[in-house]
Amino acid sequence: MRALISKAMEPPNLSPKFTIRACIEPILEAIPAARQEFVRHYGVHPYFTRRPANVVRAYIERYSQEGDLVLDPFGGTGVTAIEAFLLGRSAIQNDLNPFANFIARNIADTTLPSTAPLRQAFERVEQNCSKAIHEIEKDEIIAKELLKKLPLPENIRLPRNSDADFYYDMFTPRQLAGLALIKQAIDRETGVIRDLLLLAWSASVAKLNKTFLSAKGRAESRGGSSIFSIYRYKLAAQSVELPIWETFLGRFVNVLAAKEEVLRLRDYRERPSGGSLNLDSKTNSRVLAHDAATLDQVIKPGSVDYIFTDPPYGAFISYLDLSILWNHWLGFPIADEAREQETIVGGEREHTEEHYKQSLARSIKTSFRLLKPDRWVSIVFQHWDTRYFATILETAYDCGGELKAAITQTGDVIWSMHKKKNSASVLAGEMILTFYKPAKIPKTRKLEKTSADGDAAVILSEVFDACLNNEATSFTSEALFNRLVIELWRRRALSCLNLDREEFAKQLERRGWSYNTRTHSWSKAGYPKKAFAEMMLFDRERD
Ligand SMILES: C[S@@+](CC[C@H](N)C(=O)[O-])C[C@H]1O[C@@H](n2cnc3c(N)ncnc32)[C@H](O)[C@@H]1O
Repeated sequence: MRALISKAMEPPNLSPKFTIRACIEPILEAIPAARQEFVRHYGVHPYFTRRPANVVRAYIERYSQEGDLVLDPFGGTGVTAIEAFLLGRSAIQNDLNPFANFIARNIADTTLPSTAPLRQAFERVEQNCSKAIHEIEKDEIIAKELLKKLPLPENIRLPRNSDADFYYDMFTPRQLAGLALIKQAIDRETGVIRDLLLLAWSASVAKLNKTFLSAKGRAESRGGSSIFSIYRYKLAAQSVELPIWETFLGRFVNVLAAKEEVLRLRDYRERPSGGSLNLDSKTNSRVLAHDAATLDQVIKPGSVDYIFTDPPYGAFISYLDLSILWNHWLGFPIADEAREQETIVGGEREHTEEHYKQSLARSIKTSFRLLKPDRWVSIVFQHWDTRYFATILETAYDCGGELKAAITQTGDVIWSMHKKKNSASVLAGEMILTFYKPAKIPKTRKLEKTSADGDAAVILSEVFDACLNNEATSFTSEALFNRLVIELWRRRALSCLNLDREEFAKQLERRGWSYNTRTHSWSKAGYPKKAFAEMMLFDRERD
């Protein structure tokens, strides 16, 4: 870590105990996402907005040390916690969604001596049910008959915006019977073996249902459920019934590869500096299902060394509603309280924007409370609504957080499909905001709102010009938008950025910039051809 400490930045007047972390040089450039790099995340189980593990790893390595405690309060499938654990940190994964925790816990688990018992269990499951599955695939009447005897979950109502009214309506009789047969065989197994098989089964559920949209122009089995692209249970206009056993086998192979990768890392845990890492999930990996806003009830304040988190982005995804597909059949109950606490806008509970902002603000406050002094926290966020950015930036500021880096990560997009359709008007690049919590936080820190009192249109125009007046000859909408957010935040005038996507495009076109739908970037006639992938968001001299 020493190499990362800039001598010029050596802080004066801090007790030696607190100096080291203040000197960490923040990450000031986007890290290209290598999505498919680690089989422990890629392909095991789909989830919403999974962060690229190589990016998360780079942040963990930069802002924490071996033996540290790393937390992700909105952990999703556990990319942060799993990578932190594998990098020799103690990790806490937290998510309100039991199904997300189920994925995270099982990937991180290092208690198996090897994958041999898992392979043997798979063979037992195959012996138990693959013949019956092939029979029902040939004849739907057999499937319907079998359904009368098989254990099925209760046929509950689906969220109101679904195409189907009830849970069973999402499946054909073959799919329902096939999945029930496999689950029945898996349920005879025990412990982590059973859970890993259920993980493969649950990933198959994502493909073996009527919301599965087969990817055009690719193998029929490629594609996913509409809940990942349209964020609701939309039945496919032309439903594709994939072969049941082969689909399960494909998911199992992925789970097996993930487990082999993790166990290999456990068994080969020498570190370059000597000694070995303690990669024991029983002692160094903890999973919590708590509201991020009240995590201080279960984690000691001032005990965490680094937080990397990716909270929900407003109204796009109702995680608990959309995870019914898995939570319900896996038998994971969702408490009313959890639904109440979910940090989203909308959903079945019709959460308001106010609820979302308050919940987000409380989670950030709690995160700062949990963090030790002289430590760092990174928050990933993307949205057109700058009020949400204001919530994050103001809350972090109130907690004493110093914004040290704001990096636009393009290529990690979650809306790529929509982006293609709407080209210039959709924002899809998320920003990683990194704050430092100083050893001593000034008691009174008042947020000045200066320029916001001026004419918003004039300020916005000035800021557009200021942001465009740099070396960049080509940039994405999201890079510019994020730059505007930070520039206006510095001027304490974030509310001036109250513009829609069309107006944003007009502002650029008025200044002679045009949008290239092929490269999804803006450029200006007469500028040199050399293009910068991103605009520098953070000006080291000024900050
Ligand atoms: C954007 S996702 C995180 C995805 C994650 N970065 C990954 O790589 O898988 C946000 C997560 O926050 C969870 N969540 C929503 N409200 C929450 C709350 N109040 N407390 C804890 N988790 C919450 C959701 O269930 C969801 O998994």
